[in-house]
Amino acid sequence: MSEIINEFEMSLETANFLKGKINYTPEYAIVLGSGLGSLVEDIEIDREISYKDIPNFPVSTVKGHKGSLIFGTLNGKKIVAMNGRFHYYEGYDMKQVTFPERVFWQMGIKKLVVSNASGGVNRNFSIGDVMLITDHINFFPENPLRGPNDERFGPRFVNMSEPYSRKMLQVVRNYAAKNNIKIKEGTYLGLQGPTFETLAEYTMVRNVGGDAVGMSTVPEVIVAKHMDMEVFGISVITDIGTAEFIEEVNHQEVLKAAKAAEPIVRELVGKLVELY
Ligand code: HPA
Repeated sequence: MSEIINEFEMSLETANFLKGKINYTPEYAIVLGSGLGSLVEDIEIDREISYKDIPNFPVSTVKGHKGSLIFGTLNGKKIVAMNGRFHYYEGYDMKQVTFPERVFWQMGIKKLVVSNASGGVNRNFSIGDVMLITDHINFFPENPLRGPNDERFGPRFVNMSEPYSRKMLQVVRNYAAKNNIKIKEGTYLGLQGPTFETLAEYTMVRNVGGDAVGMSTVPEVIVAKHMDMEVFGISVITDIGTAEFIEEVNHQEVLKAAKAAEPIVRELVGKLVELY
């Protein structure tokens, strides 16, 4: 799919396939990153479809790689959850990484929630903090919209003045304040990975205006905004990368920290879906 010239037709075909399996249009698509996996437990599931059974979906070559779309009801709203995302560092190209967002839009879905784990570089952040993403910086080596533009999706030059919906942010902020849930807010800087950052790179992230750094989310949000979707992003700070406090970051630690913060992320996303 690297030379996609018919991304529109392919995503439409996939959307029609999925629409044939369910008889409603979900209101939300929710990308379950590290720190939100257990949201699945809150969903009354209508239907789960494995990525390998979805036409045109990127195929994972990694043995035993999980991945499915879960259709169902979350706090009274119809949603589709993406259980497992495609990362650029795995070798997928940008069109593959962002293909699910094209499909969601083709299905008529207008609201997207993205979640992830990230390394904090803001000095006020601690491991386990939950950060609402208010903005992002694209440090991936390419932009998913590079190449011919299909006007049916959106304009050539995309307005990125509000990548993360102010209204959605306000709903979650208000809920958190009322219920004494401590949240942080900040800018997510996306890098390709798969290496974690060197100390110099963490410092660079902070100096260019990032509060947290991770290896996903930015491409998906760019493509969602191309189609004028409304986006909410949330991140769990799983390690800290400041010169004063760099500790050995590894995948196990990231998963452990993400798991610990999971109930909060799950509650906030659930409430957003319920209230907005
Ligand atoms: N850097 C990049 N990606 C990450 C990190 C990090 O420190 N933590 C979790 N995902």
